[in-house]
Amino acid sequence: MARKFHEPKLVIASHNQGKVREIADLLAPFGVSVVSAAVLGLPEPEETGATFIENAELKALAAAHGSGLPALADDSGLAVHALGGEPGIHSARWAETGAGRDFGRAMEKVEAALAGKSDRGAHFACVLALAWPDGHVESFEGRVDGTLVWPPRGDKGFGYDPVFQPDGRAITFGEMEPDKKHAISHRADAFAKLVAACFEGGER
Ligand code: IMP
Repeated sequence: MARKFHEPKLVIASHNQGKVREIADLLAPFGVSVVSAAVLGLPEPEETGATFIENAELKALAAAHGSGLPALADDSGLAVHALGGEPGIHSARWAETGAGRDFGRAMEKVEAALAGKSDRGAHFACVLALAWPDGHVESFEGRVDGTLVWPPRGDKGFGYDPVFQPDGRAITFGEMEPDKKHAISHRADAFAKLVAACFEGGER
């Protein structure tokens, strides 16, 4: 049995504005007041885990211990099937330039690595970890499958959204209205599992 969440306030353990916005949107119906780790001035822990779950849990625990509040962390990324799941947990790292992150460059690198490969399948994966200050953690994994397109299309999302076309749609996540993306994304899938397990009675 998962531990239920009853507290009035939650830290979103991320310094990524795109993720904070999406998670705050997903939490909006539950009447929980949210604050981001960046606003609290919490340091970003080093992501030393080998999996999405390990990284999500270490980020959630660091924020819960640092703030004394429950904390929700997301570790996510783009897994490209013909690349053995890369960039995967290294999705942000593929965008590092030495002078900040450049996802245009990261998408180019993925495209270059895919040259000559016929399988353009990929999925976004997301683990949401909810940690309490006493060290208890609950984690949930979600995914959305799709195909990589080139060139990138749309500027409504973040990260790799402009090259990811979810199965059954003719537009990329970058072209999709945020509420439409939030209904089918890997994060929404993980979030639905989190809500079913940890939030009593759904909307409150
Ligand atoms: P993390 O902060 O280590 O979890 O990095 C995850 C990276 O994966 C982000 O910086 C994005 O580049 C990418 N990513 C995760 N979720 C999404 C998404 O919904 N759209 C586009 N890119 C994403």
